Amino acid sequence: MEKVKVLRKYPPKRDNILLILHELQRLNPNNYLTEDDLRLVSQYLSLPISEVVGVATFYSLFSLKPRGKYLLRVCKSPACHLEGAVSLLQEIKNYLGIEEGDTTDDGMFTLETSECLGHCAEAPAMMVNDEVFTKLSEESVREIIDRLRRS
Ligand code: FES
Repeated sequence: MEKVKVLRKYPPKRDNILLILHELQRLNPNNYLTEDDLRLVSQYLSLPISEVVGVATFYSLFSLKPRGKYLLRVCKSPACHLEGAVSLLQEIKNYLGIEEGDTTDDGMFTLETSECLGHCAEAPAMMVNDEVFTKLSEESVREIIDRLRRS
């Protein structure tokens, strides 16, 4: 079982909780942590389930509900805000026909916002799964979305 393999990669110490949760989430084609995942981590690390849920809900990286194949996270921190992140976000909402936090009906895209992605000098920035895109424009985000749709 793939999940057990993930657990065995890490010693059962609380310090490894983020790495384990991250890997388990990546295993899920719908990009989220299931109740089963949380229970598994709780047992493996000998932590109360409430603590595991607390960690999983504290970090915006994790989700407890199904998400799209591609998770678009538009940075809304100051540098990106000043460089047009609000209109960029609006353009993506219009283009995909969804609101922030929603997933497209075809299960391809989930739209979220994030704090600084560490690319302030190249603002505005957006992360798609593990890849960061920078110096975005309304046109370039449409191109990125089109490319992902075709992939
Ligand atoms: S403020 Fe957006 S990447 Fe830093």
